[in-house]
Amino acid sequence: MSVPTTLQPFPTPPSPADGALPAADLVDHYGRRIRYLRLSVTDRCDFRCTYCMAEDMTFLPRGDILSLEECLRVVRAFVALGVDKVRLTGGEPLVRRDILWLIERASSLPGVRELVLTTNGSQLGKLAQQVRDAGVRRINVSIDSLRPERFRAITRTGSLDKVLAGIDAAIAAGFERIKLNTVMLRGVNDDEFEDLVDFAIGRGIDISFIEEMPLGDTDHARIDTFMTQDEVLPRLQARYGLTATSENSGGPARYWRVPGQATRVGFISPHSHNFCDSCNRVRVTATGDLYPCLGQNDMLPLLPVLRDTAAGLAAEDADTALLDAIRRSMGIKPHGHDFDMRKPTPAVVRFMSMTGG
Ligand code: 5AD
Ligand code: SF4
Repeated sequence: MSVPTTLQPFPTPPSPADGALPAADLVDHYGRRIRYLRLSVTDRCDFRCTYCMAEDMTFLPRGDILSLEECLRVVRAFVALGVDKVRLTGGEPLVRRDILWLIERASSLPGVRELVLTTNGSQLGKLAQQVRDAGVRRINVSIDSLRPERFRAITRTGSLDKVLAGIDAAIAAGFERIKLNTVMLRGVNDDEFEDLVDFAIGRGIDISFIEEMPLGDTDHARIDTFMTQDEVLPRLQARYGLTATSENSGGPARYWRVPGQATRVGFISPHSHNFCDSCNRVRVTATGDLYPCLGQNDMLPLLPVLRDTAAGLAAEDADTALLDAIRRSMGIKPHGHDFDMRKPTPAVVRFMSMTGG
């Protein structure tokens, strides 16, 4: 393909003296060090999950979306500032054309310890091996039901068979870890949590249960379906004898082990077990808006800075401007979200597919 590859290297961050943090590192006002970038490569998705999107979504015009080269520049800038874990998200990242181009380059950047991906699994049957070969070591696959009709009702357009085939293709492709993500929805899939854990055990993969967040004005009544870890963990502990671990994958999930099995059961619980104090991440949307917090509206647009190069700014100056903008975003990183599921309007009007899952 014709994406130019003549990128200048960013200055490498100075190495820390006497154990001090290098000046280049990203540390916010609360002393949290940012090492994890979640980059949404598209707002588009082939599914329309009820808790994530409205049925009738208008997607952004392509010209408003970062090019793959711009995505790579963003990743390189964050890596120059000490980020070592990058997650590509969406929308559905694997529906972005030529996404393998970005994966290959981003995963081989010096300083990138881990390039990971969150996907709905629909394209994995086709792409799992190529994604693995391009350098992705771990993937998260979203799956909220193992019953075809129900799966279709939740995703509105998705095919369970295709996703199951995608998961099997991912297992065959040899990812180091595969994790399923399940949003807990009362009255929708809460009778299937054990089936989902059994499915994960059967395949030797992990699973995390997620508390739903009030993001975007979807047409489903969140207060009716909202469930927390405090209800579900005891139930799974009783069934599987789960044991707590201190293992973490650098994200917000807390894990329990299924004794005698490879499978770990995780919970992502922004409501019942707030993890904002140890937040180590920021998000960049498909349009290049840098959101220091998923649950707040503060943001800093990177697109003007990125496109100034095209407008005649020398490449080094544009890179300096980009690094400066990212450093400035530390000043607007809020202490945390204040999600309240009882409120009729969501805390954040952006859909999850916009900010990146
Ligand atoms: N609350 C919690 N999780 C969500 N996801 C999408 N929207 C929401 C929401 N409002 C999940 C998807 C996927 C991941 C990217 O985020 O199910 O697993
Ligand atoms: Fe697509 Fe994921 Fe949103 Fe479902 S949750 S509509 S798969 S982006």
